[in-house]
Amino acid sequence: MEMSERKQERNRVIAQAMSDIASVMDKGPSLENLEAGKAHLIALAARDDLFTFEDFPLPQDDAMECSYLIHEAPDGGYALYVNSGAPHQYYAPHDHGVARAIIAGVRGRERHQLYLRRGPDEPGEGPLVKKGEVVVAAGEAATMQPDGIHEVNAMDGKPLLHLHLYAKNFVLQGERWKYDLDRGEAEPFHLNELGSITDAR
Ligand SMILES: [Fe+2]
Repeated sequence: MEMSERKQERNRVIAQAMSDIASVMDKGPSLENLEAGKAHLIALAARDDLFTFEDFPLPQDDAMECSYLIHEAPDGGYALYVNSGAPHQYYAPHDHGVARAIIAGVRGRERHQLYLRRGPDEPGEGPLVKKGEVVVAAGEAATMQPDGIHEVNAMDGKPLLHLHLYAKNFVLQGERWKYDLDRGEAEPFHLNELGSITDAR
């Protein structure tokens, strides 16, 4: 398939998948609806012929990743990005504002350590409580609820290419926080800390 033909086919299956995802996630923020959206995104990510490093190149410099916007609703909702990440990609724990998120794997493996903010009455030290760990790879996805926090790293010393869906685009996610686990501190996360975002729709 030629590149332009592939893009046409990709946009067709993305539009179908995003319509399916919006119809289940619009029903509300329940875990059940998020899991239904996750199944649709995993099915889209299975089309690895449409999500290649040729079409979504890795950083050419020492940046950790390149992001490509491939779908967004007219109101800025349901923003879908391809993330092409270098082998050294690492993000300290951070939230996505109040946006629900689904990250589905296409190529390579990415560890997501999941946290919640420690409540005032919860025992232990530091701002976060670890809740689990998911390895995102082909056929697998991680989900985040509005209060979710994740710490992300590429695995195996290899690059990765994954689909990141946020119920709101990066601009609409609003106030976000990142956490320094060594110093036990939370600080604001600024949009300019993200690598390049290319509109690839
Ligand atoms: Fe994130």
